[in-house]
Amino acid sequence: MKEKLKKLLSLALKEIEAGSSLSTLKEIEVKFIGRKGKLTEILKGIKDLSEKEKPIIGQLANQYKNQIETAIADKTVEINKAEIEKALASESIDITIPGQKPELGHIHPLYQVQKEVEEIFNQMGFTVVDGPEIESEYYNFEGLNIPEDHPARDCQDTFFIKGKEDKKHKRLVLRTHTSPLQVRSMEKYGAPLRIIVPGRVFRYEATDASHDATFHQVEGMLIDKNISLAHLKGVMKEFLSRLFGKEVNVRFRPGYFPFVEPGVELDFSCLICLGAGCRVCKHTGWVEFMGAGMTHPNVLKAGGIDSKKYQGWAFGFGLTRLIMMRYAINDIRLLAGGDLRFTKQF
Ligand code: DAH
Repeated sequence: MKEKLKKLLSLALKEIEAGSSLSTLKEIEVKFIGRKGKLTEILKGIKDLSEKEKPIIGQLANQYKNQIETAIADKTVEINKAEIEKALASESIDITIPGQKPELGHIHPLYQVQKEVEEIFNQMGFTVVDGPEIESEYYNFEGLNIPEDHPARDCQDTFFIKGKEDKKHKRLVLRTHTSPLQVRSMEKYGAPLRIIVPGRVFRYEATDASHDATFHQVEGMLIDKNISLAHLKGVMKEFLSRLFGKEVNVRFRPGYFPFVEPGVELDFSCLICLGAGCRVCKHTGWVEFMGAGMTHPNVLKAGGIDSKKYQGWAFGFGLTRLIMMRYAINDIRLLAGGDLRFTKQF
């Protein structure tokens, strides 16, 4: 019996030593010390041995079983270690190879400048407001004193949207300017009022280097008591001087917009030639910048404001134009073109 046990042990140890994978080790374990393993069978048969043999064989069998278990555990550690070393060798990292820089996005030049504009007007007490790009004909035209048959409608070629029509608000349009927020804001906030409205606007237009069907404007409106165009001149001079980081002069010329009376056009002194005359200012020393004027009583009325108690002015300029001027961009289509060679320059 002892001999048989000894042989079993040396056979098991030999197989364990030769085992090269965790799965073979598992098989060996089952074969010798598993529930129906060879050594287990012997242990089970001990009860039938003579009283003299029982303790001797029992002790020996248990000792061998422990030896086999230890050998399997040791071999498992050895195989694991070898596998880890193999994996490490094949996955090693060469820390001297230069890394790949992750590509970081950045804010589009249009919104960079929009943010600057907002900050300057914020500091002068203007609130930034927002409104729908799909607008009603009423807010886009009628509310601004531009009735259906008014020739001024022809200046803004409009995208109309098919769908429901409502008696007061008429058809839906893609807003042609940010001015609809004048009546919307008066209705919502009343007087006094100080707002700017940066936003996207749309015109049904053939595109070329200076026209796009989508562009950005900034609307402004101030309503209070005893307000005149002098306040507008002061605000715009301050705004442009802060934006360009040097003193800028502004001038008014007469202009016509149905929603203001009187209406003006505002120019600023050319920053390139400082008034001497150059190509940018078409040799006039002045750059055309925006439309503005004293808000028409009909518009105040549409906004629910008593024109006997309050006056105000409004202005609208092209943010897109401003950016083109600032960075000397010669084609408007580059701004929304999505070409990274362009946007990466800002
Ligand atoms: N909405 C005008 C346009 O798109 C610009 C404008 C002119 C806005 C005069 C105003 C204004 O608020 O008073 O051409």
